[in-house]
Amino acid sequence: MALLEIQNLHVYYGQIHALKGIDLHVDQGEIVTLIGGNGAGKTTTLRAISGLLRTPEESKIKLQNEELTRLRAHHVVERGVIHVPEGRRVFARMSVQENLTMGAYARADRSGMDGDLDFIFQLFPRLKERRAQLAGTLSGGEQQMLAMGRALMGNPKVLLLDEPSMGLAPVLVEAIFDTIELLNKQRGTTILLVEQNALMALQIASRGYVIETGHIVLSGDARALSTDPRVREAYLGG
Ligand SMILES: Nc1ncnc2c1ncn2[C@@H]1O[C@H](COP(=O)(O)OP(=O)(O)O)[C@@H](O)[C@H]1O
Ligand SMILES: [Mg+2]
Repeated sequence: MALLEIQNLHVYYGQIHALKGIDLHVDQGEIVTLIGGNGAGKTTTLRAISGLLRTPEESKIKLQNEELTRLRAHHVVERGVIHVPEGRRVFARMSVQENLTMGAYARADRSGMDGDLDFIFQLFPRLKERRAQLAGTLSGGEQQMLAMGRALMGNPKVLLLDEPSMGLAPVLVEAIFDTIELLNKQRGTTILLVEQNALMALQIASRGYVIETGHIVLSGDARALSTDPRVREAYLGG
């Protein structure tokens, strides 16, 4: 059974039909990537899953076969679906430590918090060194680490990552992707990874979906997608 399942997802922004019936699923323990160009509908998909956008009656979003569709965003978080938004959005005037604490507000098992904090500091030693620093003064890569750490403090069943590599120097992009892979391997965290950086995303994912103008146009095994001529031509520069 799929952990997260999306069926016939439509989203409208006024007259704009941004998602035109998306179907996708993520199984327990998987990294699945949703790749596509700018404006394809990746962020809209994650925002709909997170309860930040309204969806019509026929659209279904399920976690462990229970409907999340039309729950409010804070209830979606309480169910364990945690979204790291595009552009990180850390609380700039709070310290690293305070940002991490904020990430734990919705979790049920408060007893696991200390262990999770240790794990996050092991995953991102830089955050440990800088835990008293104001988040707004961190570099882009450090803010991405903090946004991911804050999400992990919520003890996610599914982590939704929106373009974690955006705007980062290549060496940091490598580091972020390595960490996503490590997180999945060490903790078994289930991840839906949205990326424009298709090649990197397909290297760490087990499966992928390609989205174009609100439609899934291709899907399958990540390795097969990364060698598919249509993917290579469109996203990998041939
Ligand atoms: N708040 C909004 N109002 C109107 N149109 C929007 C809004 N957000 C996104 N869109 C449109 O929806 C489409 C999908 O956008 P988005 O999901 O942000 O794409 P991606 O994340 O793949 O770049 C685009 O055509 C975009 O212009
Ligand atoms: Mg986007």
